[in-house]
Amino acid sequence: MTTVRTTQVDRSADRIDFGIGQPGFDLLPHDIMANAAAVRFAEGDNDLLNYGYEQGDGRFRAALADFLTKHYAAPVSAQQLMVTAGASQALDLICTQFTRPGDTVFVEEPSYFLALRILKEDHKLNVVSLPIDENGLRIDALEAALKSQRPVFVYTIPTFQNPTGYTLSQERREQLVALSQDHNFMIVADEVYHLLGYGEAPPAPLASFVDQGNVLSVGSFSKILAPGLRLGWIQASPELVERFVLCGLVDSGGGLNHFTSNIVRVVLERGWQDHYLAELRDIYSRRIDVMQAALTRHLGDRLRFRTPQGGYFFWIELLTGADTVDLLSQAQAAGVGFVPGTRFSSQDSLHRHFRLSFAHFPEDAIEEGIARLATVM
Ligand SMILES: Cc1ncc(COP(=O)(O)O)c(C=O)c1O
Repeated sequence: MTTVRTTQVDRSADRIDFGIGQPGFDLLPHDIMANAAAVRFAEGDNDLLNYGYEQGDGRFRAALADFLTKHYAAPVSAQQLMVTAGASQALDLICTQFTRPGDTVFVEEPSYFLALRILKEDHKLNVVSLPIDENGLRIDALEAALKSQRPVFVYTIPTFQNPTGYTLSQERREQLVALSQDHNFMIVADEVYHLLGYGEAPPAPLASFVDQGNVLSVGSFSKILAPGLRLGWIQASPELVERFVLCGLVDSGGGLNHFTSNIVRVVLERGWQDHYLAELRDIYSRRIDVMQAALTRHLGDRLRFRTPQGGYFFWIELLTGADTVDLLSQAQAAGVGFVPGTRFSSQDSLHRHFRLSFAHFPEDAIEEGIARLATVM
């Protein structure tokens, strides 16, 4: 099988590829990380370079719990946190611990395509998709599916979803949690965009329901600090956290990202993460304004979209009837890129949709890229 590398960016290309769902190179926090590393090394203990604790470094988890308590406006304790090597690895670990090949899991349609790959290809799960609308996962569809199927878990991206940007309403959050208890399934909430809101605050994260016992909330520093850190976490009840702490992987290897988490602990304790997050929100919300204005100016009569309130993406419906898979090669020839909607579908649908990221390119490149897009659409 050919491996498609979706995470590596070709820096030499002149293409303005709005398919890249990563922060721009200009935004990556080199100084913050260099300063934090210097502070951490100056602490002078050898623990930094030793194996870590299975659950993750205690001082890092305490600093992360304080940070999340402040930003979630809901209490988070260090006991609820398991440190991981990013959200993708967290999802893989959850699958390893709780599923067997052939088990059924429910996902949203559309959903993050690489999570779908972890579920389907890496873990051979039976993936059943449920529709979402502007208020997130459709609870009526979930109730209907539960009449005939019993999932191990529902994988949801409840806030500023990838790719749609939709956010699950408070009412539906409560309904989802109630159903998970009545029907005995877990909720895997991928909340990596929760802190990247640019307008009104979203409802409290599904992490605030972990005390109910069957919610696993996945978080990451990839979107709020830097993806190369490979640092994330699972927030869950201490009983579920224990499952991860006792697994062979961390018994053999120690904590999943001990060294980096020690350095990021300094970033959290000194308030540098708060500051950087505020800066990112400011930059991204300006990029949204530029992309929205350019889309409206160049393509207003041919597209339908909602302005994102958070996250990284515009999710766009093309009204001309053209298939966005077919348009991609023409767009690439014109020096611009996007991700066709079908990539996010478990049913090979969404041919009229596409996703644009506003996170990777600065404002002038966004202007130029949308102008190029207009020549092919
Ligand atoms: C919804 C979602 N989950 C997980 C990830 C990957 O997170 P990480 O870099 O922490 O593995 C992404 C990255 O695009 C994402 O959009």
